[in-house]
Amino acid sequence: MKTNSIPTTSYLHSSFGHPVLRSWSELNTNLTKESLIYPLFITDDANAVEEIKSLPDVYRYGVNKLEEVLTPLVRKGLKSVILFGVPKTAKKDNFGTSATSEANPVLPAIRLLRKKFSELLICCDVCLCAYTDHGHCGILKDGELENIASIQRLAEVAGTYALAGAHVVAPSDMMDGRILAIKNELIRIGKGSKTALMSYSAKFASSFYGPFRDAAESGVKGGGDRKCYQLPVGSRGLARRALQRDMAEGADMVMVKPGGPYLDIIRDGKVTGKLTRELCTNYPVAVYQVSGEYAMLWHGAKNGVFDLKVGVLESLTSFYRAGANVIITYYTPKILEWIDERN
Ligand code: PBG
Ligand code: ZN
Repeated sequence: MKTNSIPTTSYLHSSFGHPVLRSWSELNTNLTKESLIYPLFITDDANAVEEIKSLPDVYRYGVNKLEEVLTPLVRKGLKSVILFGVPKTAKKDNFGTSATSEANPVLPAIRLLRKKFSELLICCDVCLCAYTDHGHCGILKDGELENIASIQRLAEVAGTYALAGAHVVAPSDMMDGRILAIKNELIRIGKGSKTALMSYSAKFASSFYGPFRDAAESGVKGGGDRKCYQLPVGSRGLARRALQRDMAEGADMVMVKPGGPYLDIIRDGKVTGKLTRELCTNYPVAVYQVSGEYAMLWHGAKNGVFDLKVGVLESLTSFYRAGANVIITYYTPKILEWIDERN
């Protein structure tokens, strides 16, 4: 029998094509450098180093600054980054047209990182909100989200990142069916077995994203919010369904976001039992310690509530205890040093 195509869920190789990805699928219950992903904001002024008021010690960088910034971190054991584009001069429109053009600063950043840091695992956040004029994560029609048009567009963006050299594409938009659309696009462009697909599956409509929206200039313009596509804060059922759905659509790994206030959801992904029935036991589960969590810990420590190192390490221990395998955190540079101090 001749086979021309296989289902999206048959692709296993995409989950372990890189040494860092392989470590994510191995059991780790301890803080390791491999399990950390450092978020980077890439702006389109190539020489920029911009402070972000609401995210102390975090900066937006132009592509020309990346080598200088990352060299000491890679030397300390940085294994992975996730890139967020912050286009300032590119024209924004309903379709996020600039996301797939050379006006998107993420594209030169991917190429540069691939060239300069050959072992670094490069993840790319896939969303439209930093590229649309309205600031929503999808395409609108008559003021409402157009789901199919949105997932087609998101698939184009993910495919563009994959072709530029991203190892992992990570859609954070929360449209319905985007994992299937992106997986099919990756297969179409010959990346089905090569590019990993990490889904922001259990992403809640949280108040803790505020500083990020400052950093990425991706807030919803003219009022409105994201409550019709990001999950209701109190819903465990929708989180489980989203995790299950995204795995069934072909995700290689899933994510819970935010982290600290949602440890029970991470646990849901890992517990084998009557209720959850191996929901995500066979997938790496990532957790995103989001911008608001970062800022709370930073300000808490600054004001003498606790020692920063002790407080941050405690937050990480809690992620591992709940069952996370991978942690996205703005504290990564500090944690790399703390790991070395410990050893
Ligand atoms: C874009 C995106 C957001 C975050 C990651 N990707 C913001 C949002 O959905 O509003 C939040 C990350 C953070 O707060 O650190 N869709
Ligand atoms: Zn978005």
